[in-house]
Amino acid sequence: MGERIFIGVAWPYANGPLHLGHIAGCYLPADIFARYHRLKGNEVLMVSGSDQHGTPITLRAEQEGKSPQEIVSRYHQQFLDCWQKLGISFDLFTTTGTPNHSQVTHDIFLTLLERGYIYKGSMPQAYCPRCQRFLPDRYLEGICPHCGFPEARGDQCDQCGKPLNPQDLIGLHCRQCATEPRFEDSEHFFLRLSVLGERLKAWVKEQKHWRPNVLNFTMRFLEEGLKDRAITRDIEWGVPVPQSGFERKRIYVWFEAVIGYFSASKEWAKLQGKETAWHPFWQDGAKSFYFIGKDNIPFHTIIWPAMLMGYGGLDLPYDVPANEFLTIEGKRLSTSRNWAVWVPDYLERYAVDPLRYFLSINMPETGDADFSWHEFLRRNNDELVATYGNLAHRVLTFLQRNFDGIVPSPGELDSESQALLAKAEEILNSVDNLLYQCHFKEAVRTAMSLAQETNRYLDDKAPWKTITKDPPVAASAIYTALSALSALRIAFYPFLPFSSQQLHTFLGFKSKLESGDWKLQLPSVGQKLPVPKPLFTKLDDNIVEEESQRLGRELGT
Ligand code: MF3
Ligand code: ZN
Repeated sequence: MGERIFIGVAWPYANGPLHLGHIAGCYLPADIFARYHRLKGNEVLMVSGSDQHGTPITLRAEQEGKSPQEIVSRYHQQFLDCWQKLGISFDLFTTTGTPNHSQVTHDIFLTLLERGYIYKGSMPQAYCPRCQRFLPDRYLEGICPHCGFPEARGDQCDQCGKPLNPQDLIGLHCRQCATEPRFEDSEHFFLRLSVLGERLKAWVKEQKHWRPNVLNFTMRFLEEGLKDRAITRDIEWGVPVPQSGFERKRIYVWFEAVIGYFSASKEWAKLQGKETAWHPFWQDGAKSFYFIGKDNIPFHTIIWPAMLMGYGGLDLPYDVPANEFLTIEGKRLSTSRNWAVWVPDYLERYAVDPLRYFLSINMPETGDADFSWHEFLRRNNDELVATYGNLAHRVLTFLQRNFDGIVPSPGELDSESQALLAKAEEILNSVDNLLYQCHFKEAVRTAMSLAQETNRYLDDKAPWKTITKDPPVAASAIYTALSALSALRIAFYPFLPFSSQQLHTFLGFKSKLESGDWKLQLPSVGQKLPVPKPLFTKLDDNIVEEESQRLGRELGT
């Protein structure tokens, strides 16, 4: 029996469009991983949803003079549309606004309360005397006590990534008017992280397979000692607190958002018509992977595992392959300055697989990576089109022209042909191993090396020369090249699902590629193949200039 793989992907705030940083950070790697495992015959459950609570949403709603729900509905719809077009194959993409999510959150909250992992206490809440209101975390700013970053927010430092309480900040002030807030006591619930530190440390120490950046960040954090954290807030938008006296308060967005992984799994199970269908993905040793950006690491390697430990009976994360950041044309991506490439804009103008290719081979896996239109153009034209697309096209059209589209018998394969087939097997194996370990960049580079190898083989065999003098020799070469293409269609499938499916059809396979296996299937001798079309299109140089003009331009002008 195959493995069971749970894939949780960070829940995007439904307060604005997606940009390439989101895609490179977590959605693409998660999807590559899911497609790979499904093709390997493993059972996959991949879930996420719109994170619809928290100040990012209410800030946006205030700016637009709309209700939070209106903002959320608009972007949730847009996200669904983007996943479909990008081929991000969620089993369920829901929201944190469902009754199911509230129920599951309440169950976890109450269980933790009963077991003493949550307790009631009082917390000074920041009040701005000038703006005359309580200030949520994101409306507070100050110097980070850990790294000295001057613009740290009330809940987290954007420079060192550490979660913070507002009182930790030095020179705390209101972001709107710069006034120092005063603190008024307010009753809240707290997660007793302080008692879980040792258990967490012992658990994290065993996670030798985690990426070094994730492991080091988490260990350093734990070494400094965990403090209890308030998990309720004086706000109106969010999941209600299931305790009397708390009607005017809500559960803190981060506490409930991470619960979304579990509530979405339960929702998925109900939609399957089998309420218990989530069990195999959360119990009995399934492996769970959480794909996130590096700013979310502590919530997934400390807080969520702590909640799971307190709750009991559910699997802790197996791996948290967090990616680093994507810069745009060498500069840090900024949504407010419109220094971003927005997914809906991209989708209006270009094909999907070239983007998936670029972000795979340039994935911010072990360090930050850059997206530039010039590099995008180069990778599309020189690699996808010239190396892979042209290879497929010249083999398939040669077959049409000289063999009437019918796969010829290979006869006896010579040593170079046998070597290429062996190479194809070997590369399918290495891509398999690399993907298993979440080494996406290396995996796609390895797949591309088979295209290069096959080009060399074909140039060397030159069937366009042998076809007149010695047709069986040409036939043998074409058969071998078709076999290599068959391997490429599999090796590239997790990265380039659309063009792989196309190539699959051009190679004469009838069923959907995704219902097949991760193995080299040789072409059927005597089968007539359909007339092919190019897999990729060359991009014109002038898009670089055109797109650079769009960057940083004010929105709505
Ligand atoms: N909405 C958060 C963000 O965009 C991510 C939440 S991930 C979750 O940073 F798992 F907590 F939901
Ligand atoms: Zn900091």
